[in-house]
Amino acid sequence: MRIRGVSSGLQGTTQVPGDKSISHRAVMLGALAQGETVITGFLAGEDCLATIACFRDMGVDIRRQDNRVQIQGAGLHGLQQPEQPLYVGNSGTTIRLLLGILSGQVFPSVINGDASIQKRPMARVANPLRLMGARITGEGDLAPLTISPAGTLTGIDYLLPVASAQVKSALLLAGMYAKGVTSVTEPAPSRDHTEIMLASFGVAIKRQGLTASVEGPVVLQGREIAVPGDISSAAFLLVAALIIPDSEVVIRQVGINPTRSGIIDVLRAMGGNIEVQQLTSNLAEPVADILVRSSELRGVTVEGDIIPRLIDEIPAIAVAAAFAKGTTIIRDAAELKVKESNRIAAMVQGLMAMGGDVSELDDGLVIRGGKALHGAAIESRGDHRIAMAFAVAGMAACGETNIGNEDCIPVSFPGFAEILRQLGANVQMDGE
Ligand code: S3P
Repeated sequence: MRIRGVSSGLQGTTQVPGDKSISHRAVMLGALAQGETVITGFLAGEDCLATIACFRDMGVDIRRQDNRVQIQGAGLHGLQQPEQPLYVGNSGTTIRLLLGILSGQVFPSVINGDASIQKRPMARVANPLRLMGARITGEGDLAPLTISPAGTLTGIDYLLPVASAQVKSALLLAGMYAKGVTSVTEPAPSRDHTEIMLASFGVAIKRQGLTASVEGPVVLQGREIAVPGDISSAAFLLVAALIIPDSEVVIRQVGINPTRSGIIDVLRAMGGNIEVQQLTSNLAEPVADILVRSSELRGVTVEGDIIPRLIDEIPAIAVAAAFAKGTTIIRDAAELKVKESNRIAAMVQGLMAMGGDVSELDDGLVIRGGKALHGAAIESRGDHRIAMAFAVAGMAACGETNIGNEDCIPVSFPGFAEILRQLGANVQMDGE
């Protein structure tokens, strides 16, 4: 992908694709529900398409036309043994949440993914599932993993060592099949889409402070779900509009669930002019239009309990920090090392290649902002959020930026380059 610095500001009203986390969960719960589930605004990105493919491989009737998905629910015990290993592609959410569901099945299964998935830690999910009685094996607890039938699971009380919505969700989903109560307590709030959606499918999920509990077995009722725009995708447009002078952009219908909206808090603390307008609620998931105007940004410290509320937005925040006056410190974010790539190393290396003044911490990074960035050749490491973060940096830098391995962008944001172009950016995908 080739990006040139823009000569005028970004302008216009736009919309980003549906929320990735909510799209995954809607397919999973719809597949296990009784009756029909219809999803609109579904993210037709590669990760969520992998989730659909996995459930089709287990016999669920799922029809998709663009962003509308229609599922004939198989019921909690209606999945069928897949004929081949389930393949999740690049999707950490698919493999981890599915491990919870597969642990409760009466048939064996194998689950695998791409080279990045085969390196990502699965013990964090497999170990607590084993405490519930699950039988999961794999070399070094890495994918490919085999899940063998284990009889009925038993509920547990589990304290997560690190806040993780994927681990929490896997345990709650396994808890739907377990005897007794499964309780999960987090050290800080992570995204709560699973809890919200389970309740909307009629499951009596209990929430108290940092603990969520479910008592199995449950019955889910199919329903209609309208997926809001993904704030993690909107993050790139927010940062682009803030750092490119004379920009004014409205992003319509973005999900701003408080467990996801840390980016808005941080960008405002940096001096960003961001207005949240026309708040509505869609199944307890708040949705709003976001107006953003270019702003003089200043450095901030980002640490502690806010980290899980913006973990996927740190690459975008690091780019904003590079264009801010003063120093930004991001810490308590060691989780970034085990995402689709080592995002700390990727951001440090890429920003340095563009002339930024950055250093790496064990659990984050320090960005001394305000240096004039220039275009550079950047390796995305096959990580969609790294590719998009540097596309934004390239738009505000002088000269041309080339991003290698851009094919990963549709994992979460199909149409990324087109939306940027409509707003006035000079972005060209390879082969265009
Ligand atoms: C996700 C949870 C987060 C996030 C990921 C999506 C989810 O991961 O980084 O992109 O949908 O539950 P962790 O649970 O590992 O923090």
